[in-house]
Amino acid sequence: MQIPRLHPDTIEEVKLRADIVDVVSEYVVLRKRGKDFVGLCPFHDEKSPSFTVSQTKQMYYCFGCQAGGNAIKFVMELGKRSFADVVLDLARRYQVPVQTLLPEQRQELQRQLSLREHLYEVLATSAQFYQHALRQSQGQKALQYLQSNRQLKEETIQQFGLGYAPASWETLYRYLVEDKHYPAQILEKAGLIKPRREGGGYYDVFRDRLMIPIRDVQGRVIAFGGRTLTDEQPKYLNSPETELFSKGKTLFALDQAKGGISQLDQAVVVEGYFDAIALHTAGINNAVASLGTALSLEQVRLILRYTESKQLVLNFDADKAGTNAAERAIGEIAELAYKGEVQLKVLNLPDGKDADEYLHSHTPEDYGELLKNAPLWLDWQIQQIIQDRDLKQATDFQQVTQQIVKLLKNIANSDTRNYYVSYCAEILSLGDTRLIPLRVENLLTQIAPPPATYSKPVSARKAWGSSKSPLPTPHSPLPTERSLLEHAEALLLRIYLHCPEQRQAIIAELEERDLQFSLSHHRFLWQQILEISSGDGETKNFASLPDLISRLQDQFLEFGSEMGLISHLFHVDEINQKEILRTPQVVQAAIACMDLVMLEKRYRHFLELWQQTDPETEPERYQSYYQAFYAEKIKLQKIDRQRLFSITELL
Ligand code: UTP
Ligand code: MN
Repeated sequence: MQIPRLHPDTIEEVKLRADIVDVVSEYVVLRKRGKDFVGLCPFHDEKSPSFTVSQTKQMYYCFGCQAGGNAIKFVMELGKRSFADVVLDLARRYQVPVQTLLPEQRQELQRQLSLREHLYEVLATSAQFYQHALRQSQGQKALQYLQSNRQLKEETIQQFGLGYAPASWETLYRYLVEDKHYPAQILEKAGLIKPRREGGGYYDVFRDRLMIPIRDVQGRVIAFGGRTLTDEQPKYLNSPETELFSKGKTLFALDQAKGGISQLDQAVVVEGYFDAIALHTAGINNAVASLGTALSLEQVRLILRYTESKQLVLNFDADKAGTNAAERAIGEIAELAYKGEVQLKVLNLPDGKDADEYLHSHTPEDYGELLKNAPLWLDWQIQQIIQDRDLKQATDFQQVTQQIVKLLKNIANSDTRNYYVSYCAEILSLGDTRLIPLRVENLLTQIAPPPATYSKPVSARKAWGSSKSPLPTPHSPLPTERSLLEHAEALLLRIYLHCPEQRQAIIAELEERDLQFSLSHHRFLWQQILEISSGDGETKNFASLPDLISRLQDQFLEFGSEMGLISHLFHVDEINQKEILRTPQVVQAAIACMDLVMLEKRYRHFLELWQQTDPETEPERYQSYYQAFYAEKIKLQKIDRQRLFSITELL
């Protein structure tokens, strides 16, 4: 489908209205630091926040992974969505009227807009319908079930928007299609109705069930879970995967829990809808439910966005096949837990109860106490391993040791690993402390990776710097020179971007010495800067471009690949801040450095030409190359080496 070209006015208006802090806050917990906001980067895993958002510049930047851009770019990257798609979405949210370049494209645009929009709408209307039905005589038994069996208060029923799907085959269908005039296809796409196998027409997916709306992080209904009130199977019927709903990417009650999670800096994950509901009712409002599946990495990441210290407690049912469920649920998280990227605890409630059942006979404080004392994931695992084993029996002892070794092997942090080695050695010593050192040694030997049989090939990057590698060609600067130059050029560009009062001076210096940026990505950025500046009229009033960065940023939405190398220049960290504070000395130093590198480059260039020229056949050329390289050599000699040292120090 062709995406309609949006009118530039619409894009501009969206940029004006969609405040970056507002947009980002929806996905990242931001804290004010100085005049910026910081949070955990959603684009890579990190423990301490290096993701910054500047309200004045309307940009974000991660010092950890160099992701950066404006509000539109943020949503594009996060959702892997197209520019137009994101602009349209933001336009809708910030009530910006949408204009397209061609009037006839409007209709197509409306159609695209409307599918998702319609789905949200039809789901919201259905939720209302179910809520209403719960209050009718047909919903009597469902309401009673909520009140007596589940002991829910009216307030909670309202808070979670619980409802009832009537027993007949076409109630919702008739209501939405015949009364509300929604197209049947939309209902089908929303997972609410299915076409009949014979005779045409449709029937309701949810019938005679207690309805639990599933919402996205923003609180929009995206699906339903329907619990039977009889012993019909399945106990819970869930919406199918739709355009809006994906089971593995959704957590029930996250919209209600996100505030609580960031406040308490901890999230509790339970298995069942009603466990989460019961916990919220009990005032434990940092609880979410996985939708009965193993927790996916994506779900975990979604939760971890809201807790800075990444504390996750799994409160899974301890019944069924023992704790298999929890182990299965841990699934993909194990990897994160081993690496220490999530502080995982496991809570098993007494008597194999789930949170809902437990809270029927205990106070919220009781639950809170258990939560506080929940064992760390590794301790829990070790408990599971030794549970019901008799370590005095040789086979049990051997099997337990094997399982423990397997567990300890994967712990990435050596301090943590050593701690657990001695902890397990103690367990395996069965109270005989004299045995502990022996057990420690034994475990360590088994944990140690097999000795490497071959050495890894040296990486290309290392080889380049090593003495054995061929020398770089005379034209390219030597490695140290290159990094010095890279630094000098970057610094100059950064100062140009962030210190408008220096712009005039920088231009003057560059012109006077006829200097160019040597590194291609810097040259590229400089071209863009000049283009934007010259577009602003005859009088090159550079100082009047305070929004230069944001305009460059827009330009770069089109040049994704070049952007990666220069995006860091749009931002200022603490170290840059210090350098920038020392302008104009730093400008002088950077210019001098570029000047020097240029001179040396020209010197080598002419020297090489001279060496390649035959004095017999081309005496004139021979002469002029000689003069050229000699002139550069004189200039080079004039540069006080001492001064050069001070330059490198300054940079
Ligand atoms: P449980 O079977 O543990 O149910 O399923 P529960 O939440 O304790 O149920 P109640 O208390 O009897 O009502 C846990 C979760 O697994 C999913 C649901 O999300 C449920 O909340 N599930 C379970 C299904 O999707 N389908 C099923 O048939 C059963
Ligand atoms: Mn239950």
